[in-house]
Amino acid sequence: MAKDRSEIIEKLTKKYEAIGQDVDVHLQGLLQAKPLTYWDYIQTDALLNLQIQRTDQPDEMVFIMYHQVNELLFKMILWEIDQISENNTPTAEFFASRLMRISRYFDMLTSSFEIMGDGMEVGQYMKFRNTLTPASGFQSAQYRLIEFASTELINLIDNRFRATIDRDTPFEHAYEHLYWQAAGKNYDTGDKTTLLRLFQERYMEDFLVFMKKYNTSNLSSIYKSLPQKDRLNLDLQNSLRHYDHTVNVQWVIAHLNAAKKYLESGEEVAEATGGSEWQKYMHPKFQKRIFFTYLWTEEELNTWGVANLDGHNVLKEPLNV
Ligand code: HEM
Repeated sequence: MAKDRSEIIEKLTKKYEAIGQDVDVHLQGLLQAKPLTYWDYIQTDALLNLQIQRTDQPDEMVFIMYHQVNELLFKMILWEIDQISENNTPTAEFFASRLMRISRYFDMLTSSFEIMGDGMEVGQYMKFRNTLTPASGFQSAQYRLIEFASTELINLIDNRFRATIDRDTPFEHAYEHLYWQAAGKNYDTGDKTTLLRLFQERYMEDFLVFMKKYNTSNLSSIYKSLPQKDRLNLDLQNSLRHYDHTVNVQWVIAHLNAAKKYLESGEEVAEATGGSEWQKYMHPKFQKRIFFTYLWTEEELNTWGVANLDGHNVLKEPLNV
């Protein structure tokens, strides 16, 4: 024990010497330091003070907190994507295991979406939602970052404009043709709804920087840069497919069903708070966003968001990518 302690002291001395610090002062500091508590470490007071309602409807609290849980999970996902993209030579095992972490988070988001669909009284929702216009979950920046970090930009471009965009297209031009501009942009006049304009004013610069950063280090590009034996790794291919399908079909359908439940609850179909033509805009078969197109068969691509892949989603043999 005594030997271990002197070793530790020696290492500490060296560590602080290296940064020009006196180790004795730091050891004295230890004598004064308060013991760590759970609440200080996890920052529970700060976290639990972030739920501010705009109405007296109790279920608005469910809505706020569930969105906050989503944002925390989005952050966990971005954290893991960053670990993969910062690793210059990821092995197939590392890549697959980190992807499964990411998928577990997104699976949580998808399987818990009933908290929105079934977990609020329709009458209460229809009251408090009126105080939220023109805001919408559409304006979640982290959701967009996850997309930029997952695939090549071309896969996020509106289907109608893909042919006009290539590697030499400026990022600003690509930004204007991202699939989600369709929620609020009039392509004839260039006009944008308030939802889109405010989102752009707050985040466009950040998005452009992020798009450039992930242009070649997104998950799809990293996968393509692996040696062929790793690209043919069955677990890795299945992890990528699972992630793609969870984000771009399962979550999208769960989200659309929740929206339908509320917005179609009255005699007339309600307008979305963000003002999109939501019934058309939100369906995966129209958006056709797919992160790893080369990992799906022609038929799977053609029936994206329509066919029920449950149970048939797992490859038995790797695709020759
Ligand atoms: C009752 C619950 C919800 C309803 C009724 C709903 C409704 C909508 C609608 C109608 C849109 C289309 C844009 C618009 O015009 O507003 C939208 C977009 C979006 N919402 Fe929700 N939403 C709900 C919950 C959530 C939750 C919990 C999240 C998680 C952060 C979320 C994230 C998003 C995102 C990321 C988009 C953009 C999707 C895309 O561009 O395809 N929503 N939502």
